Amino acid sequence: MHMFKGLQKLRPAGRLLREVDANNLPRHVGIIMDGNGRWAKKRGLPRSAGHRAGAQNLKTITEFAGNMGIRYITAYAFSTENWKRPKEEVDALMQLLLEYLRDKEQLAGKNVTIRVIGDRSALSDEINHEIDVIEDYTKDRDGMVLYLAINYGGRQEIVKAVRELCEQVEAGALAPGDVTEEMLSQRVYTDDVPDVDLIIRPSGELRLSNFLLWQSAYSEFWFSDINWPDFSPRDFTQAILDYQNRNRRFGGV
Ligand code: IPE
Ligand code: IPE
Ligand code: MG
Repeated sequence: MHMFKGLQKLRPAGRLLREVDANNLPRHVGIIMDGNGRWAKKRGLPRSAGHRAGAQNLKTITEFAGNMGIRYITAYAFSTENWKRPKEEVDALMQLLLEYLRDKEQLAGKNVTIRVIGDRSALSDEINHEIDVIEDYTKDRDGMVLYLAINYGGRQEIVKAVRELCEQVEAGALAPGDVTEEMLSQRVYTDDVPDVDLIIRPSGELRLSNFLLWQSAYSEFWFSDINWPDFSPRDFTQAILDYQNRNRRFGGV
C-alpha cells in the first residue's frame, strides 16, 4: 500500500508509516498549535519557553509532513483573540515570530513555501517586512506550502470577504442575488488552496477557536491530549491513519 520515496526521512514514524496509504493523503491539513503554555508549566518553565518549543516543533512536523507528500499545511500561530493575553506574553510571541521569520530555514525547512494569512494591519512594520521577505524568498519552491495564520480569525476573514463583495455591489458590478459560495471562497485568505481536509488540535481542547470557519465545512477533526511541543511525527502519522479510516460522505450516501 505504501509507496513513499525517501523513506529514510520518514523514519521517526517507525512501523506506523507502513499503514499509511500514500494515495489517500489529505491535501490540506490544519493544525491548531495549542498547549504551549501547559507544556511549559509542567516543566516549571515560563510560558515563552513553551512557545519556543512549539515553534521548533512546527519545523519538525512540516518537514515530516512534506516528505510524506502532504501539499498544504495551515498552522494557527496567533488568533485575533490572542491580543487579550498579558502584554509580556504578546510581546514575547511577536519577538519569537520575528526571530523565526528572519531565520528563513528555521521556520519550516528547505523546500517549503511560506505564506502568511490573517489581518496583517495590526502587525508591526518590522514583522510585515520580514513576512514580505520570506514569502518572496520561498515563493519558487516546489515542496509543500505552509500557511502561517497570524492574527488570523475565521470570522474576521469572512467579514473581509463580505466587505469585498459589498464593494463590488456598491460599484454596480454585482447584484446581491448573484453572490455565490464560490465568490466567498475566492475572497478568503486560502483562495488558492483546497478546503481543509483534516484539522488537528492537540492539548485536549475540543473546539475550533475561530480557525478556518469557512473552509472547515466538511473537515475531519483529530483531537488529542498531547501538548503541541510534544506532538511528534508519530502522532502526525496516527492522525493521518485515523483520517484514512473515516468515511467522508459530504452529505451523500
Ligand atoms: C498555543 O499555546 C499558542 C498560542 C495560542 C499563541 P497556548 O499559549 O494557548 O498554550 P496553553 O493553551 O495555555 O497551554
Ligand atoms: C488557539 O489557541 C489559537 C492558537 C493556537 C494560535 P487558544 O489557546 O488561543 O484557544 P482557546 O482560548 O483555548 O480557545
Ligand atoms: Mg491555548
